[in-house]
Amino acid sequence: MRYSEELIEEVRERNDIVDVVAGYVSLKKRGSNHWGLCPFHSEKTPSFSVSGAKQMYYCFGCGAGGNVYTFLMNYENMSFQEAVKFLADRAGIQLPEPDESEEAKKREGKRARLLEVNKEAAKFFYYQLRSPRGAVGLRYLKKRELSDETMHRFGLGYAGASGADLVAYLRQKGFEDELIKEAGLASHSEQHGLLSQFWNRVMFPIQDINHRVIGFGGRVMGDATPKYLNSPETPVFDKRRNLYGLNFARTARCGNIILCEGYMDVIAMHQAGFTQAVASLGTAFTPEQANLLHRYTENVLLAYDSDGAGVKAALRGIGILREAGLNGRVINMQPYKDPDEFIKAQGRDAFQERIDKAENSFFFEIRILEGQFDMSDPEAKTRFHHEIAKKLCDFSEDVERDNYLQAVADKYLIGVENLRRLVNSYAARTGLAKPVERPKSGVHQKNSPQENAKKAQRLLITWLSDEPGLYDRVKRYISPEDFTDELYQKVAVRLFQSLEEGVFQPAGLISMFEDEDEQREAAALFHTNLPELNTGQEREKAFHDILLAVKKNSYEYYTGRLGTDVNALKQAVEGKKALEELAKAHISLD
Ligand code: CTP
Ligand code: MN
Repeated sequence: MRYSEELIEEVRERNDIVDVVAGYVSLKKRGSNHWGLCPFHSEKTPSFSVSGAKQMYYCFGCGAGGNVYTFLMNYENMSFQEAVKFLADRAGIQLPEPDESEEAKKREGKRARLLEVNKEAAKFFYYQLRSPRGAVGLRYLKKRELSDETMHRFGLGYAGASGADLVAYLRQKGFEDELIKEAGLASHSEQHGLLSQFWNRVMFPIQDINHRVIGFGGRVMGDATPKYLNSPETPVFDKRRNLYGLNFARTARCGNIILCEGYMDVIAMHQAGFTQAVASLGTAFTPEQANLLHRYTENVLLAYDSDGAGVKAALRGIGILREAGLNGRVINMQPYKDPDEFIKAQGRDAFQERIDKAENSFFFEIRILEGQFDMSDPEAKTRFHHEIAKKLCDFSEDVERDNYLQAVADKYLIGVENLRRLVNSYAARTGLAKPVERPKSGVHQKNSPQENAKKAQRLLITWLSDEPGLYDRVKRYISPEDFTDELYQKVAVRLFQSLEEGVFQPAGLISMFEDEDEQREAAALFHTNLPELNTGQEREKAFHDILLAVKKNSYEYYTGRLGTDVNALKQAVEGKKALEELAKAHISLD
């Protein structure tokens, strides 16, 4: 962090989050919060809340959350430094020259240089494509029916036959060989010195959500192999955490995001008006990418290739989406191979129709499963029905499971009662899936014991931040060490410290996390849905239960670590005592 923590806090405090957000989102006061339509996902009823007391915002729909800095970083695509500067100006605060540690400076410097060299390389490729030498590239892209506007929008370029030109250009712009190599743009050859990695290819710059070029994909213009060549991972190019096209798709706000396999598919879809399309980066779709998508939507449509590999990838993708709490549906591309070919052949309206008819991911899975059985053979058919029953056990919610059970029985002409019996017998043997929690907090995990423990910890943090006065009554039982999740504990240490000092400013806590995901998770801690209870007695019981759950988990956690953790014994002994006291204690909420 460049500016001192005090200064960052001062700037934050001088900018009321309600005022700042109201500049972008129309807000209405209801209860202690201000509410509006979330600017980070598409919705029709307001689930985006801004709290003046906490100086934080949080969306109960998509889990976006943070303080005034986070808001500007997400809404205006500002960097943290830019947000500080913007708000300092807004409040009339003079910022000193930034100060930072040598190491942080070096790391930031390196990242910045890598982004610069990528940007310069992208420019080089871009101009090459539009120069006489690039004619072959331009012809290729035109043949693929891309308009000039589309090529411009995606910054498409061309790497010529000579591997030396790019290097010469970058050197002349003042970039050192070492950096050019580290960016994955060139490598050393014994004979010719430093040579570009990419030649004779049309170039697809890959951008992060802030439109910065973080890497490249290059495609041959014929049938040579490899068809695509991608930049290697670098400090700025993390293939697991970025998606091609998301810089545009994130603001499409049309209620879904389309996930496909190829760069060309993304471009073809955007050109046809489907600007919500993204693709993974030459690697399989990852859970990190699913979480990234969840910031912008609840609904993901898979537009994978229609061949065997595409179906396999889709099945994998469905699992990852489900884990992330996203609704997945599958777009049928038949009889074409991929979205690019489909749109070329059938046009945008036909594609929109396919979007509207996208298949529920469960039915997609069952349909693929069906293909593996010979339905004319009664024995195979029975096995198919058993497989269906097994899959139905994955639904934890009774209503949901039953709805699917009836629908699938209908569709495959299976007796509902027979299928139900099968499901029950599997459930009895293996147990129904644990309820998959889709908490409104935007923190998506399963309901394992660890998850339950974390939930109690979140509830306690939210409750204490809503009613800071309770701190004095609970501090003899609970300490920050009882928050066994690493991030939660970091938050708790600061929260307890500020409650102890009587200055309670949770929003400041957010800025101590550099990573955006961590900021969101920290913000979510202060916005767990507290149980809605009517009587004081019910509230007291709920609060007591939460305290007990946190303490009990902590006790078990430290007992489990005896012998490996020097702190564990102390924590376990004190924990046991506190737990016993707490069990008997009456904590009044009045
Ligand atoms: N890919 C890759 N390396 C390869 C082949 C494919 O990185 N040798 C990645 C690219 O990101 C590509 C995606 O996988 O966009 C999908 O590959 P494929 O379906 O083969 O290509 P298309 O996207 O259909 O490209 P095109 O239409 O140009 O053939
Ligand atoms: Mn294709």
